Amino acid sequence: MSLEELAGKIRSCTLCDLHKNRTNAVPGEGPEGSDIMLIGEAPGYHEDQEGRPFVGDAGDLLTDLLKRAGLERSDVFIGNVLKCRPPENRDPTEKEIETCSPYLEKQIRFLEPKLIVSLGRFAARLLTGRSVKVSDEHGELKDVEYAGWSCKLFVSYHPAAALYGADARRKLEEDFDRLGELIKDLDSFKTSKQTTF
Ligand code: URA
Repeated sequence: MSLEELAGKIRSCTLCDLHKNRTNAVPGEGPEGSDIMLIGEAPGYHEDQEGRPFVGDAGDLLTDLLKRAGLERSDVFIGNVLKCRPPENRDPTEKEIETCSPYLEKQIRFLEPKLIVSLGRFAARLLTGRSVKVSDEHGELKDVEYAGWSCKLFVSYHPAAALYGADARRKLEEDFDRLGELIKDLDSFKTSKQTTF
């Protein structure tokens, strides 16, 4: 299945109750050859309206952060743990994550990225399989195995955190400066596929 066919399935998904209140599902976007995936938490108001990831204030910040790392939005795949907006932007529930994550798994298996950047604790937890305190682990490059795919994971804050404080913004900027340094070696990042998955 192509990424676009998968996006079609996501747009018409009714597997959990979040579909009842959505305007649009947000499958994520980026070129089919993306080596880098950025994974946030869930669509917010603006993303739900437009059906595109990170288009509100957090999205503008993400675009600026990517520039610091020498990247354009169009260079990377941008997606989320949940594809539909939770009411009032509440945290995703365990059940919603469990129901929705097979879509992210398929996106990862399709793209086979060299690097995944987790934005916030929900993406970091899903990808590592353990709870992650982002304030302790941000800026670190880790080996991760998820959905039968092994690659590097770079942990960072959710961009929305920076909208509430200069300190969080500075840390995000530092993380993305470091990300820019790290990806100079992207071609040497090792990946592998688990055939038993
Ligand atoms: N926050 C997210 O986690 N994802 C989006 O797409 C927008 C805001």
